[in-house]
Amino acid sequence: MPDGRRLPIVGGNWKMHTDRAEAHRLLDALVDDLDGLEGVEVVVCPPAPWLGDAADAFDDTSLAVGAQDVYWVAQGAFTGAVAASQLVGTVEYVLAGHSERRQVFGETDEHVNLKLRAVLGAGLRPILAVGERHEEREAGRTIEVLERQLRAAFEGIPQIDDGFVIAYEPVWAIGTGLAATPEMAQEACAAVRAVVADRFGADVATTCRVQYGGSVNPANVEGFARQPDIDGALVGGAALHPDAFAAICRAVAAAF
Ligand code: 13P
Repeated sequence: MPDGRRLPIVGGNWKMHTDRAEAHRLLDALVDDLDGLEGVEVVVCPPAPWLGDAADAFDDTSLAVGAQDVYWVAQGAFTGAVAASQLVGTVEYVLAGHSERRQVFGETDEHVNLKLRAVLGAGLRPILAVGERHEEREAGRTIEVLERQLRAAFEGIPQIDDGFVIAYEPVWAIGTGLAATPEMAQEACAAVRAVVADRFGADVATTCRVQYGGSVNPANVEGFARQPDIDGALVGGAALHPDAFAAICRAVAAAF
């Protein structure tokens, strides 16, 4: 941003939802509602089969497409896997480290690091998700967990730029309707930014966008958007409803 402010970014993570007809309806509605909206960057992460449809729908619009996952090897006999280079030209962003990938598919901090390197190596922008589990927060270990996840994710990465997005997503808030309070989210996002500052320098930390994710909806988003270290939201369930998602994007833009 010319005046030094970070442009907030709202991501819609559709997870493994939508059939093709629903996906088209959603994409078209989002273009109608959100194309050209200023004060926020909007990125939509549909299931892999609709990535090309999303790229076509968003062609010549202000909306961006993101992939939900990537494999880190460049090419080869890896049935079902998609390489970062194969996403180039279709997506701008790639999610890495989502807690569902960690919990359901057994992804480790090391896997997340390999994915980030592959994404950056392909010239794409990562959205790195980190977050503590309920028992970790209860034990007062939230900041320690975030720091471990971030430092492991950044291993061997010499520098990041302002295309690098981090999503703080407390695991207990995802899909539960129990969002963090804005104060809790602010504290965690500030801690995330502090690790970025320590690892990559204060200037990089000033430009890096840190989103909050976990049961974000049109009613609670403004509280997050007003926090100094929260630069938008990563939205799951509400991203499947075009009116709700558009309202979230507009609220974030209005708070900018
Ligand atoms: P919900 O918004 O459904 O809680 O999901 C958040 C999320 O996991 C986004 O990546």
